[in-house]
Amino acid sequence: MTLEELKAIFKEKFGDQGDIRAYFAPGRVNLIGEHTDYNGGHVFPCALTIGTYAIARIREDKQIRLYSENLSADGVINSSLDELVNKDSYGWANYPLGVVWAMIEKGTKIPSGFDMVVWGNIPNGSGLSSSASLEVLTGTVLTDLFGLNKTMTDLALIGQYSENNFNGCNCGIMDQFAVAMGKKDHAIFLDCADLSYKYAPVKLENASIVITNSKVKHSLVDSAYNDRRNESSRALKDLQTVCGISSLGDLTMAEFEKYGTVIKDEIDYKRAKHAVAENQRTIEAVEALNANDLEKFGQLMNASHVSLRDDYEVSCQEVDFLVETQWKVPGVIGARITGGGFGGCTVAIVKNDAVENFKDTVGKAYKEKFDLDAEFYVVDIGDGARRL
Ligand code: GLA
Repeated sequence: MTLEELKAIFKEKFGDQGDIRAYFAPGRVNLIGEHTDYNGGHVFPCALTIGTYAIARIREDKQIRLYSENLSADGVINSSLDELVNKDSYGWANYPLGVVWAMIEKGTKIPSGFDMVVWGNIPNGSGLSSSASLEVLTGTVLTDLFGLNKTMTDLALIGQYSENNFNGCNCGIMDQFAVAMGKKDHAIFLDCADLSYKYAPVKLENASIVITNSKVKHSLVDSAYNDRRNESSRALKDLQTVCGISSLGDLTMAEFEKYGTVIKDEIDYKRAKHAVAENQRTIEAVEALNANDLEKFGQLMNASHVSLRDDYEVSCQEVDFLVETQWKVPGVIGARITGGGFGGCTVAIVKNDAVENFKDTVGKAYKEKFDLDAEFYVVDIGDGARRL
């Protein structure tokens, strides 16, 4: 789909008058630092060059009209600034509507309605942040159309707020932040405790980032995600009875070993152990990357997977099989599950001359074991959300 084609769809749906503008927001992949964001730890995601495009125009009345070229069966969704509610029948449109609602809820005046057509090339629900992309995209559209005074960090926070309070998933800040703040050829080393961040160049020399889509999405993902959050915060409360920390991200592994025995529940203990260890791994991984030690970076990715599989328990047999198969393929520097989990994607760093064999070997083994066709994406790191 070209921008011209998307504009033509906009004109067909909504007419060709007025000032019609184009926007883009990327998807993201997290290299390491999983389930650490809402635990006050570090993450290391990067924006992708795949993402979501929007064509939009201000309206003079209060109507909001939304159309997705990907989910066209839904037709045009009509809503209004005076009636922003989440409805099952709105489907995907609950994300943009949630952002408008969140802006207003946070005290921003949205003077009128708007028309918007979107199209994206992020596989939906695969852990590459198609929803955060749509949220930050909508924030970018509103900011530009109405000349709002919002930074990209504001837009990330508004996206998260809308997902938490309008769409019912208690997600952390990583996805929206990566989508808003992405930078070509860099990953973002973000401290989720205070949103301070540094860009780190991702120089993989003779290697590439390869994402594998397992094509599975297990049910109850949002509720399992929310359970993990609750388990981690229970562990934090127990720890706070013996040490003055404000999040699990404040602890080193040695401190965790010293104080961790106060955590009453065995499951809560495992969740906290992952959160502390993963945060430390993320800090070490960024140091390794900055020192050009890719091998160490890869080992930390592998250790991250083991911890997510055994302690945080957010993997599943299909994704474990993919990762464990990938570890055995020559030329693989590291591989792990990425994103929220319970299905979705793996991320691997693979030597360029090994990529074809990687796809072939992993694809065939997966097909044989689960009768599923994995999809592979050799990705580039791109910039964050913007007007085009
Ligand atoms: C989802 C959430 C993020 C983060 C990851 C796990 O993508 O939206 O906030 O918690 O899971 O690292």
